[in-house]
Amino acid sequence: MIKLETKHAFLKENVKDYQESVDRLHQQLMNKECLGNDYVGWVEWPNTYDQEEFARIKQTAARMREMCDVFVVCGIGGSYLGARAAIEMINGLYANKKPEIIFIGNTFSSTYIAQVMEYIKDKEVCVNVISKSGTTTETSLAFRLLKQFMDEKYKEQAKERIVATTDKARGVLKAVADQEGYETFVIPDDIGGRYSVITPVGLLPIAVAGIDIDAIMSGLKKAYEDLADSDLDHNAAYAYAVCRRILQNQGYDVEMLVSYELQMSMIAEWWKQLFGESEGKEGKGILPDSATFSTDLHSLGQFVQEGKKVLFETILMIDRPTQDITFPSDAQNLDQMNYLSGKSVDWVNKMAAQGTLEAHVNTGGVPNLILTLKDMSAESFGYMCYFFFRACAMTVLLLDVNPFNQPGVEVYKKNMFRLLGKN
Ligand code: PA5
Repeated sequence: MIKLETKHAFLKENVKDYQESVDRLHQQLMNKECLGNDYVGWVEWPNTYDQEEFARIKQTAARMREMCDVFVVCGIGGSYLGARAAIEMINGLYANKKPEIIFIGNTFSSTYIAQVMEYIKDKEVCVNVISKSGTTTETSLAFRLLKQFMDEKYKEQAKERIVATTDKARGVLKAVADQEGYETFVIPDDIGGRYSVITPVGLLPIAVAGIDIDAIMSGLKKAYEDLADSDLDHNAAYAYAVCRRILQNQGYDVEMLVSYELQMSMIAEWWKQLFGESEGKEGKGILPDSATFSTDLHSLGQFVQEGKKVLFETILMIDRPTQDITFPSDAQNLDQMNYLSGKSVDWVNKMAAQGTLEAHVNTGGVPNLILTLKDMSAESFGYMCYFFFRACAMTVLLLDVNPFNQPGVEVYKKNMFRLLGKN
């Protein structure tokens, strides 16, 4: 379901030379003996997820879909990005479906928060507040505003419209949910935020958006099976992980994830969190960047083509578009576009990709890795998540870094709390 092609001429080391290290780290990951082994619950998740809870997610989603025009998801980082990425990828950017899914709790921007509150004021609203720690300030600030709004609007019924996804026992959010009688879903202890889209964190909002979460789990399982063998000739996720390391050894410190689909741009944000938070430690790591082509060929394309040679591109191609359009003929041809008459717009997109590849690789000397995903379906989303989870864990373990913590994100919080006067 995901194929990797590399422009081998750029790789100065042989991918297979890493086989021994990859086999060792694969064993450690599967046996929960790797660095950060407290957070590898996602590895076996396709086989171990709680079926009862999964059924309850579907029931709750159906209930929420009946009740609201707007479903407000309140969370940040791993408690936000995956759900939004999935919904945009699978449903598209103008799905015009009910309920509309809106995100808050992911910023301190007063303008954004005020505008969301204004937007939902006269609509039927349900809320999903998501926080593993239950103490994240962006989320807590927005949720207090939302809670007061819901209590005022729905009085006693507010609790029927609010769902909390949090730790099974710890944290302020758990205490609030218990006290108020909200329905709750559990974020497993051994799955970190950026790996949590495959748990209720992502699955509830995704199901409320009308997406088939059974298909996501079946994609996840398929990837688990396809990636069981650590042989670099067969395991595309590990081969991708190794290519990144080789390219960084050659001095490429930036990876640009490129898609030719605008509805994949939040996937790139999710991917940036996954790789950036996992790898950027101890003065090591590749900076994850992203672009959407051909849109950004009219901006960043110039840098990629002729700028400083710091980056390689990973092209995430979609084999089959969700929809296609045949370009019409025009009798007058005033715009001189008849050379495309009868052609599919996706074909034009693919030709743009091919032309760009030649320009960046052959003329620009920019290494390109190409990952091809079958389509933008729910099943492909599940497959892709698991593919990137495994690739990310392997590429970071190859650096001898713990892929599952994020100690650096605490520094800004400490300073902010001091400035805010928090005890
Ligand atoms: O990857 C992570 O763990 C983080 O990005 C968290 O997801 C993010 O900080 C939100 O944390 P929480 O779910 O505890 O509110």
